[in-house]
Amino acid sequence: MLIKIKNSWDLNENDVTSEAHYLSRRKFIRAAGVLGAGSAANLMIPNLGVSQEELMPGTNMYGGSELRDEQNTLDIITGYNNFYEFGTNKDDPVANAHTLITEPWSVTVDGHCDNPGVYSVEDLVDHSKLEERIYRMRCVEAWSMVIPWAGVSLSEVLNKVKPNSKAKYVYFETLVDKKQMPGQAGNVIKWPYREGLRMDEAMHPLTIMAVGLYGRKLANQNGAPLRLVVPWKYGFKGVKSIVKISFVERKPNTSWMRLAPNEYGFYANVNPKVPHPRWSQAKERRIGDFGRRKTLMFNGYGEQVAYLYDGMNLRRNF
Ligand code: MTE
Repeated sequence: MLIKIKNSWDLNENDVTSEAHYLSRRKFIRAAGVLGAGSAANLMIPNLGVSQEELMPGTNMYGGSELRDEQNTLDIITGYNNFYEFGTNKDDPVANAHTLITEPWSVTVDGHCDNPGVYSVEDLVDHSKLEERIYRMRCVEAWSMVIPWAGVSLSEVLNKVKPNSKAKYVYFETLVDKKQMPGQAGNVIKWPYREGLRMDEAMHPLTIMAVGLYGRKLANQNGAPLRLVVPWKYGFKGVKSIVKISFVERKPNTSWMRLAPNEYGFYANVNPKVPHPRWSQAKERRIGDFGRRKTLMFNGYGEQVAYLYDGMNLRRNF
């Protein structure tokens, strides 16, 4: 049941990564073959036929253009989080998530699939296929970050359990355990935290199941041991510390839809034209930047994903 991330991925616990350290580490990881084919600055994303440079225009691992989207540092990414199971302030998860026990960990898969059952993390996520995906992440609260995730396409995971033709949607649930997750003592949202995707969104090669970031295992506050990452949707779709995957026919109710259906829709596509009822989504503050930048439709991934929503009214389906 232990997560077997290759040794070359593991940095010391107290080795909070500076960008310079990470980049030199990254060269080492590439030399060790962990990241797969492609040059460090321009990794090809399997199944998608595009490079990391195309996914994140301006990304340049080794310095370069003023315009590049710089990765946020590990201490920001692990220190400024939403994970309500550990409290509702941004610095609660880093302070409280040490109580989460991530090994051993099991995930129950049920519903319309050929291989339902209880799986370990490594049953579901083939660590020899881990890739780095540097993604823009946009939170509905109008801030954003750039995060170098380590994961595999969710389609790789789902293909192992073989959803059948009745599966139209998939939903994911987080662990419920008040002892490990003190924030669950209150009813700020209805536990378990639940998020879902349409099957074509789930199978899209940009959607990943992440187990690491910055070349090391996920910190508890980022959703260890495994979490969803959907870069064209608001961050709340990225359900953390997953213990259940269910294939269903009907659109599932998700945690935020249950709590405030007028504020949070099922699709949650990043859309600068559709304001949240209480604030605009036209601009965002990249954590670490001064000032605000314009938010991009589908968070900048429109070329890859816009076709999924052809013919849909994206104001009604927010
Ligand atoms: N998953 C669970 N289980 N509980 C949560 O409160 N918050 C979501 C999402 N996943 C949340 C969750 C929200 S609102 C955001 S913005 C992202 O996690 C932020 O996580 P990250 O900064 O670690 O990526």
